Amino acid sequence: MKLLVTGGAGFIGSNFIRYWLNTHPEDRLINLDVLSYAGNVENLRGIKESKKYTFMKGNIGNRKLLEKVMKDVDIVVNFAAETHVDRSLEDSSVFFNNNVIAASVLYKISIKKRVKKFIQISTDEVFGELPGDGNSKFDENSRYNPQNPYSVSKAAADFLAFSYHKAYGFPIIITHSGNNYGPCQYPEKFIPLTITNALAGKNIPVYGNGKQVRNWIYVEDNVRAIEKIIIHGKIGERYCIGGEELKNIEVAEMILDRLGLGRKLIAYVRDRPGHDRKYALNCSKIKNEFGWRAKYSFKEGVAKTIEWYKNKSLKI
Ligand SMILES: NC(=O)c1ccc[n+]([C@@H]2O[C@H](COP(=O)([O-])OP(=O)(O)OC[C@H]3O[C@@H](n4cnc5c(N)ncnc54)[C@H](O)[C@@H]3O)[C@@H](O)[C@H]2O)c1
Repeated sequence: MKLLVTGGAGFIGSNFIRYWLNTHPEDRLINLDVLSYAGNVENLRGIKESKKYTFMKGNIGNRKLLEKVMKDVDIVVNFAAETHVDRSLEDSSVFFNNNVIAASVLYKISIKKRVKKFIQISTDEVFGELPGDGNSKFDENSRYNPQNPYSVSKAAADFLAFSYHKAYGFPIIITHSGNNYGPCQYPEKFIPLTITNALAGKNIPVYGNGKQVRNWIYVEDNVRAIEKIIIHGKIGERYCIGGEELKNIEVAEMILDRLGLGRKLIAYVRDRPGHDRKYALNCSKIKNEFGWRAKYSFKEGVAKTIEWYKNKSLKI
């Protein structure tokens, strides 16, 4: 099988590639990444270029390049995107250029090249927010209601993919995962920022009252879910992939406890404008259909993540 993985120098993409090359050594894989500020070839350290694995610097919106690269590709996994909500609030244009317009080119060439499956990596944020109290959760039938420019761009990419599915039989499958954490995440996101600041003795910024709830999934668990979907996923379907729900302040406190540091470093800062209160996921579909389960509790996953950032900072 031949895979095109886009955005594979970023956080989830690089973890996916490392896992896939180890567990499916018979496959060929091309990694296409534009190397934005969030893409880092260091994330792929130790993965050697070979007949089986090629890295290519380039944009998913580059039609000519895709025409060449996509010869005989069976599966596309599209991780390429701008991903940070705060940046989307500053300037949303780059989000729409990459997440929607460039993605539309990748979609069209994938249709032309007759790929067998196209996995569009979406997010739980497209569903908007849940009430802060109560037990309701999003699932695959939840209504789209994105409420920040990042999630609006991701929702637009999903709608476009489904329109191509209806018009041309585009073999789309969409994943909605919760917040990933683990090795190789750019430290602007909450968990790596909290860990790296704590290790450096710096304040840990917590938005508003810190009571926003997120669903947290260790990246390897998400990668194994994507593997199940590549192998067993049904065209035209969507799958929610999640771990544990926790408040941001609980996450910060668990990291500080693990590091044996007190709470003094926690610094409450002005809330993000329009900050979604709560995301929570019901993942029964992928559990029941494919027997997928998260392997790591948040406690275990965060301990592994802390170790990774500790060793990384030692190397630097
Ligand atoms: N990180 C999370 O918690 C999370 C949760 C749910 C969904 N997602 C989705 O998963 C995907 C990957 O997220 P991530 O956290 O690994 O992101 P990331 O920001 O770490 O990496 C994104 C990668 O995409 C590349 N890229 C951006 N635009 C490109 C383009 N036009 N052409 C080629 N490459 C391009 C960047 O260079 C970078 O390497 C995204 O689509 C994101 O929306 C992420």
